[in-house]
Amino acid sequence: MQVAPSLLSCDFSKIGEEVIRVDKGGADLIHLDVMDGHFVPNLTIGPAVIKSIRQYTELPFDVHLMIDRPLDYIDVFADAGADIITFHIEALSDVGETIDKIRSLGIKAGLAIKPGTPPEVVYPYLDRLYMVLVMTVEPGFGGQSFMADMMPKVTAVKSECSKRGLDVLVEVDGGISEKTVSAAAEVGVDICVSGTGVFKAKDTAEAIRLLRNCGAEPAQALRRSL
Ligand code: DX5
Ligand code: ZN
Repeated sequence: MQVAPSLLSCDFSKIGEEVIRVDKGGADLIHLDVMDGHFVPNLTIGPAVIKSIRQYTELPFDVHLMIDRPLDYIDVFADAGADIITFHIEALSDVGETIDKIRSLGIKAGLAIKPGTPPEVVYPYLDRLYMVLVMTVEPGFGGQSFMADMMPKVTAVKSECSKRGLDVLVEVDGGISEKTVSAAAEVGVDICVSGTGVFKAKDTAEAIRLLRNCGAEPAQALRRSL
C-alpha cells in the first residue's frame, strides 16, 4: 500500500516543514486538496501554494481537484509541479478532453468519484487513466468517518481493469487510519490518502508505516510486546 498524506490536515503556517516531515516519515506521494467553494463547500489552496512547496520534496505531487471546470486549470497546476492530476467526473468538464489535456502535458491522469457516483461511469475512460480515486467520504473536509460501503466500488473497478488487461491504480481518500486501512487493503487498494491519520498522529513515521503495513503491527513490535 502506498501512502499519500493529505496536507489538508497539516499546520498551514509552516507548510514547507510539514512537507519535509512526511517526506522524512516515509510518504510515497504528497496529496494536495484543491477546493473552489463551488464544487465543494470549502476553499483551500491553489497553484501558487503548490508551486511554493515544490522545492521541499522530490516526492510526486498527487493533486486532487475538487473544482468546477477543471479543464480550465490544468495548465496552471501542471506549471505548479503536479505529477498526477485527479479531477471529479461530477465536475462541469468534458471528461475525455480533460484527461487528454492532462496527458498531453506529460502528467498522469486520475478520475475521482464521489460516494453517490457508481463505478461504471469511469469505465469508458479507463484506458487513458493512471488512477481512479474512490472517495470514502463526501469531498470537502478532512476528519470525516470512513465509508466502508465504498469498497465494492473498488472491487468493481479492479475487476473491470483486470478483465480488460489494464493496469490502473485505485486510490481511496477520506477517513483512512490504521484502523480503517485494512478494509481498503483487502480489496486491493493501491494508494491510501490520509490527512488526520498522519498529521494528527503523535509519531508521523509510525503512522505512515502502519498505513503501509495495512494497519498490521510489524513483527518487531509484536516481539517487543511478548
Ligand atoms: C476530502 C479530501 C481528503 C481529506 C482527507 O475532501 O479529499 O483528501 O484531506 O482527510 P482525512 O484523512 O482526515 O479524512
Ligand atoms: Zn483528497
